[in-house]
Amino acid sequence: MKKIIAVDGPAGAGKSTVSKIVAARLGYTYIDTGAMYRAVALKCNAQCVMRNAQWTEEFVAEVVQDIEIKLDTSEKVFLDGREVTKEIRTPEVSRGASDVAKFGVVRKKLTELQREMAVQGSVIMDGRDIGTQVLPNADLKIFLTASVEERARRRFEELKEKNFAADFEQIKKEISLRDKQDSEREIAPLAKAEDAVLLDSTSLTIEQVVTEILRLAR
Ligand code: CDP
Repeated sequence: MKKIIAVDGPAGAGKSTVSKIVAARLGYTYIDTGAMYRAVALKCNAQCVMRNAQWTEEFVAEVVQDIEIKLDTSEKVFLDGREVTKEIRTPEVSRGASDVAKFGVVRKKLTELQREMAVQGSVIMDGRDIGTQVLPNADLKIFLTASVEERARRRFEELKEKNFAADFEQIKKEISLRDKQDSEREIAPLAKAEDAVLLDSTSLTIEQVVTEILRLAR
């Protein structure tokens, strides 16, 4: 039978890392909704430069109107037919994703796409509002968090591994700012669903978090 696992939480808590492993072990499809907000931000950035425009809701609405975002099974991300997997991981795009994510027009469009993706089979979807807004009927909801210090350390290592320039204090500042912006926005803020299981991964290994989610899933 088709099952749905929703994983929400702040930046750098390990959502995508553990969700990918859980998906592989259970034979589910992994859906990274953050990548979709990142793709919107990338398109807004490009259009903004081309048209010398500001990120008003009107401008963003026009940009997303006919946007095409595809996630393939090998976690490649395509924006309007072009692969942008690596491009969407820069700190600039992280900031932009949080900026566009506050607009209702963007959330509505991406929520529709995400719900369509979730009807195709068993899925594990991660983001900020999956358990609260996108898939409130999920079979299992996890809210994964960790201290800001630990999340900044993980993001720092991840960026270094991908050969992006990284400064620990700067990353910590940006993560805190993004947490605040994501938690305080009016529409679909980052929040734990009432029926979500809270997992604090500060002092847990990836394998320990995976084991706990698999146990809960069973
Ligand atoms: O990977 P990281 O945790 O840094 O962020 P992400 O999951 O790729 O999401 C990037 C940004 O998109 C977040 O800071 C949110 O502002 C936004 N987002 C959202 O609003 N709703 C979602 N379901 C997923 C991401």
